[in-house]
Order: sequence, then structure tokens, then C-alpha cells
Amino acid sequence: MADSEQLLKLAQQYGTPLYVYDGDGVVQHYRALFDFIPWPRLRVHYALKANYNPMLLKLLGEAGASIDAVSPGEVHLALQLGFPKERILFTANNLTDAEFDEVRDLGVLMNIGSLSRLAKAADRAPGMAVCLRFNPDVMDGDNEKTMTGGDLTKFGILLEDIGRVLEIVRRGNLRVVGLHEHTGSGLQHTESVFRSMKQLMSVATPENFPELEFLDFGGGFKVPYKPGEERVDYYAMGREIVSLFGDFCRRYGRELEMRFEPGKYMVAESGWMLTEVNTIKHNRSRVIAGCNAGFPQLIRPVLYGAYHQIENLSHPAGELHCYDVCGNICETGDRFAEQRELPELREGDILAIGNAGAYCYSMGGIYNLRPMPSEVVIVNGTARLVRRAPSHRELAQSVLGEYQL
Ligand SMILES: Cc1ncc(COP(=O)(O)O)c(C=O)c1O
Repeated sequence: MADSEQLLKLAQQYGTPLYVYDGDGVVQHYRALFDFIPWPRLRVHYALKANYNPMLLKLLGEAGASIDAVSPGEVHLALQLGFPKERILFTANNLTDAEFDEVRDLGVLMNIGSLSRLAKAADRAPGMAVCLRFNPDVMDGDNEKTMTGGDLTKFGILLEDIGRVLEIVRRGNLRVVGLHEHTGSGLQHTESVFRSMKQLMSVATPENFPELEFLDFGGGFKVPYKPGEERVDYYAMGREIVSLFGDFCRRYGRELEMRFEPGKYMVAESGWMLTEVNTIKHNRSRVIAGCNAGFPQLIRPVLYGAYHQIENLSHPAGELHCYDVCGNICETGDRFAEQRELPELREGDILAIGNAGAYCYSMGGIYNLRPMPSEVVIVNGTARLVRRAPSHRELAQSVLGEYQL
């Protein structure tokens, strides 16, 4: 794990804003899953939407991880990095026919989450192998925007539509090799994981789907964000998962592969965004600490109201004061934290925003035409700059380069 001293040195060496990832930590998280969930045929598909940094993907690929991809772009990235097509599952929603054909032609297994798309698959590609995504009808997650079970979500086929699923599968002679569900991100209760598993297993009978090779129970493993937030007992959770799946396989009549596809768990805690406080402003009742990055560079606080820990690397022993930690974007809501108690912030101090490994860089953009930060990855204890941020001039040039005027 990178410590505060190392982060501060990296900020001084490469400038800010800067993303730092502990590649060794990411691989450790991946490996730990096999201790938590001791099923002999466990396969972990890293949800690459969480962080597509190619160095992290390379490290995970070398460690044996497979990939959960949600767009043709993610499929291409995984293939170009050398992940074999058999180790990629493509789970998209609202897929166009052109996208369907593109991914099918690449030979990557598709996870189909609507009756409409399933019917099109039956017509366009009779006989093809597919995975089917069901809505587990379990509501859980750290934010309602990332809950993917129940009535309000666009994801997955309703379990009660199983009759129509079987009709279409028969009509198109489709070979259903896998079933899938994903309940949400940051699942608050392990009970939800078990309930969703049981829901998927309820349709995974040999009568319905005799050719199953795997069940995929999605991602959503929670990591703590706030100080004092409890860590899930993953060993206890894993034991129950293995017991449920073992019973299921006995009923099914064969030992199937068990898959999970975590994103946040794999990378969240191994990433930091470093930013410099450059403006302290006293606004009557509030003290505003203005930083040299904004919500396009780390959007979770604005998008989800998410809490990210902030450390004052330059002045950790300063007296505690309350701050609105704001970004440099022309929007009032551009805040990393509101009324947060932190060791005194001074202009020039470097802050480390924690848990920035997942859904931070990958959700980023260049709003206000500020570049996404450079990225450093620590591998075997050695930090390497793997992406240099474009200068402001280069960013403007690359924007213009995309247009025909
Ligand atoms: C289908 C699917 N699988 C896996 C994940 C990964 O979730 P998490 O990063 O919470 O583990 C997501 C994220 O939303 C998802 O949509």
C-alpha cells in the first residue's frame, strides 16, 4: 500500500492533479477472492468499467483474471491487451444490432439482458451460445443509481418471464451456457448476495437449461469508504456462497463454474487522486479550499453524494478546521467534500483523495477543457508514470483534431 510519504513524493515528482494506483494491491485483492470463496471452479471477471488503466489490466491478466466488458470498446481494449476471447464476457444493455454483430464476429460470449435482444439473437444468429442476464429482484447497493435489481432498473430479464425466454431459446436453437445476475454496486448486506444467488438458481434447472457451464453472480462487493465503516467478513460470506452453490450443483447434477465480476472491490482502495490546494477563501461562515482538479477528474461525490476520505499530506498534524473542498470547475456543486474537518489547509498543500481506484478516472471527462490527470502505477514497489496528462495546449489541439471544420 502506498503510504502518505510516498504519495507526497510522487506529487512533487510528477505534479498534480495525479492519479496513483497500487498495482500490487490490486493483484492482492484479486488473489484474496480465491481464499474467500474456496470453490475449485471459481472464475473472476474484473469489471473493467471500474478502471480501464491498461497497466492494471495487464497485471490482472497476468494474475489470471478474466474480464467483464460492457461496451464494444471495452471488448476491443481487453482483446488488444491480450485477454483471450474465451476470458471475456460482454454484458451490454440497449445494444444496437451493429454492436451485437460486431461483438459476435469477435467471438466473445454475450450476456443478453432483455427479451427483445434475445429474440433478435434468435433471428440473427440461430444456434449461437449465449449467457442470459436475469433481474434478481433484490434491491441493494450503496446508492439508488447503482442498484440493478427490482422494478426501477433497466437491467436483466424478469424471472417471471422464464416461459418466454424458453420459447425464444427453442425457436432460435440458442445454446444457453451461462446465467447471470448483478444486484448492484456496494452491496450493504451479504444477505442480498445470497438471496440473489438463490433467485438465479431458481431458474437454473437442467430442464430449463441443460447445457449450463457457469452461473455468474455479478459484482457489488462492498468496500469501506467512510472512517469506521465496517468491512464485510468476506470469509464468512464466501463460506455461505460455496455452501449454496455446492447444494445447487448437486441439484443440477454437475459441478458448474462459479463466476463473480467485481470492479469496485478490486481497485477502489488501491487508488488515490492527488490534488493541490491553491486558493483558500473565507466566505463568511464557510472556508473554501480550492483545488487544481474538479468533478470531471473525480465525479463520485457530485454524482452519488459519495464520501471519499481526504488526507492533507503536507500538513497532517495541523489543527482541525472545517472546509468545503472545492474543485476548479465553473459550477457551484463542484465539491469533493462539504463541511469536512481536516488538518489546517494552506495554499500549496497536497491532498490525497482516497478510494479513488474505482469509478473515478474511468468516469472522468474533460468538461471545462481540463485534462484528465497523469497516472502512476506502483508495481513491485516501484512507481511508474504510465500516462502523462496532455498540456492545455495539447488538449485543445486534440479537441480540434477530432473535428472537420
Ligand atoms: C453487470 C455488472 N457487473 C459487475 C459490475 C461491478 O460492480 P462493482 O464495481 O460494484 O463490483 C457492474 C457495475 O455496475 C455491472 O453492471
